[in-house]
Amino acid sequence: MKIFLDTANVDDIREGVSWGIVDGVTTNPTLASKEAGNRTFWDIAKEIINIVQGPVNLEVTALDADGMVKEGKKLAAMGKNVVVKIPMTVEGLKAIVRLKKLGIKTNTTLIFNSNQALLAAKAGTDYVSPFVGRLDDIGESGMQIVKDILQIFLNYGIKTEIIVASVRHPVHVQEAALLGADIATVPFSILKMLVKHPKTDEGLAKFLEDWKKVKV
Ligand code: G3P
Repeated sequence: MKIFLDTANVDDIREGVSWGIVDGVTTNPTLASKEAGNRTFWDIAKEIINIVQGPVNLEVTALDADGMVKEGKKLAAMGKNVVVKIPMTVEGLKAIVRLKKLGIKTNTTLIFNSNQALLAAKAGTDYVSPFVGRLDDIGESGMQIVKDILQIFLNYGIKTEIIVASVRHPVHVQEAALLGADIATVPFSILKMLVKHPKTDEGLAKFLEDWKKVKV
């Protein structure tokens, strides 16, 4: 399973990429707003694109297809690895069709059920992003939606990749991998959790302690 970082924080992205296991990045307007400071979105996006070899997902904010296509073209022109995030709306579907004809990759975001994913795939999107955490928040099963999308895509040989998004804890990552999702996009805080186990720390401390008794 590919792992993307779900952040627009350049320091976290640089650090995560240095670990050698980050395959891409996803951002959204909320994540961008957290990094606002003195820098423009374009400066931040440019830096992310330079750090990350894999897909860098940047989101449009227009609500109409013309506006989405216009923004999508501008975002895609920033780098070969840019994927344009389009919200799951009727206008979004129209924009996906048009961007595909232009050879621009799209990730359909704010997916909350499998029918939405099917429609986005039919429009030709490259990725769909079901938001598992936000479904769990309202008492629905985010992972069940992922399971359903996987089955539907399997039924029809659909090549659209599934990005499990709105990941809240390591169990979401494990479940995504067990189901066979293509990608999980995770906040850096969760990526750090994936590395850790107290027994690993304990075991390493014991090894180092015992090593002191060995003549080298
Ligand atoms: O990339 C979008 C998604 O991951 C947002 O997550 O935590 O705001 O629901 P969250």
